[in-house]
Amino acid sequence: MDIELKTEYWEDLDARKAFKTFILDIHGLDFTEWEARGYWDKAYTPFSYFRDGQVIASVCIYLLDATIGGRTTKLVQISGVGTHLDWRRQGLSRKLTVLGLERFRDQHEGVFLFADEEAIPYYLRCGFSALDESQEFCQINGVPIKSGLVRLNPSDQQDLDKIYGYAESRVRISDKFSIFSPKLLMFHALYTLRNKVYEIPELDCLVFFDRNDEVVNIYDILGRTIPTFEEIYPYISSETDKQINFHFHTDKLGIRGVQTRVLLGNNTFVKGSFPLSAPVFPFTSRA
Ligand SMILES: CC(C)(COP(=O)(O)OP(=O)(O)OC[C@H]1O[C@@H](n2cnc3c(N)ncnc32)[C@H](O)[C@@H]1OP(=O)(O)O)[C@@H](O)C(=O)NCCC(=O)NCCS
Repeated sequence: MDIELKTEYWEDLDARKAFKTFILDIHGLDFTEWEARGYWDKAYTPFSYFRDGQVIASVCIYLLDATIGGRTTKLVQISGVGTHLDWRRQGLSRKLTVLGLERFRDQHEGVFLFADEEAIPYYLRCGFSALDESQEFCQINGVPIKSGLVRLNPSDQQDLDKIYGYAESRVRISDKFSIFSPKLLMFHALYTLRNKVYEIPELDCLVFFDRNDEVVNIYDILGRTIPTFEEIYPYISSETDKQINFHFHTDKLGIRGVQTRVLLGNNTFVKGSFPLSAPVFPFTSRA
């Protein structure tokens, strides 16, 4: 086979472009804005097979700074996994995964990923196992609204700079489990949470949230200190609110009556042992 293995090739702009094209083809995800705005992350390490300048199979290993039980540590997230249709079932993806994990062996405490439904049989064949995830939530009644919530617009460079400033200087959202990755956070600010970024200047924090009828989803809170939930809620409250879902562990928010349930649907997989059971994976740590 006339194929070439490449890794750590982000400085090679042709190869990087081929990677972007591949991810767009396989996952429908266009990294152009994340790159153009300057948030491309070197810690997101590609292991790819190339043929005639094109990527035919690729796996990315993302070494992430984490906090677990108050300890600073590292975890690996596998993402950007794909093999071109013509090259499937020839062991390419498995080989890239083995190579990638070998390269980062001994540098982390655990490996996780979120699988697309149709890729589950593949991950099982490759020795990954499902990990239960949890979600924390609480029942709530709206409270009198405080003014001062400011919607930020990621299309505006000043707002984007402000978001990145918060991302870099944030304290961990949870001592139980959090992940610190400003550039990955910016991916979410530009893509998955683009219309959900708000600042509360009086509390010197950002809140990523949305509302579906009676249910509020809070995806992340960024600040140099983390205000209590009681301080934050009046700024985002609505009289129709009945429930808040948190997409991270809430141990620092001082909430009374927080409940935990099993979260279904993320298809979280790990390789070997993982240092947490039934964790809440922070939404903004997904690559
Ligand atoms: C999932 C995917 C990456 C697998 O790539 P691949 O290069 O064909 O995988 P490999 O050839 O390395 O397969 C490794 C093992 O998994 C098995 N396997 C691969 N795809 C499978 C499938 N769809 N169902 C069942 N088993 C599968 C292979 O038979 C092989 O098993 P074996 O070694 O015991 O024979 C590829 O099908 C793909 O790109 N799918 C679309 C994108 C996607 O879903 N990516 C993952 C997102 S989380």
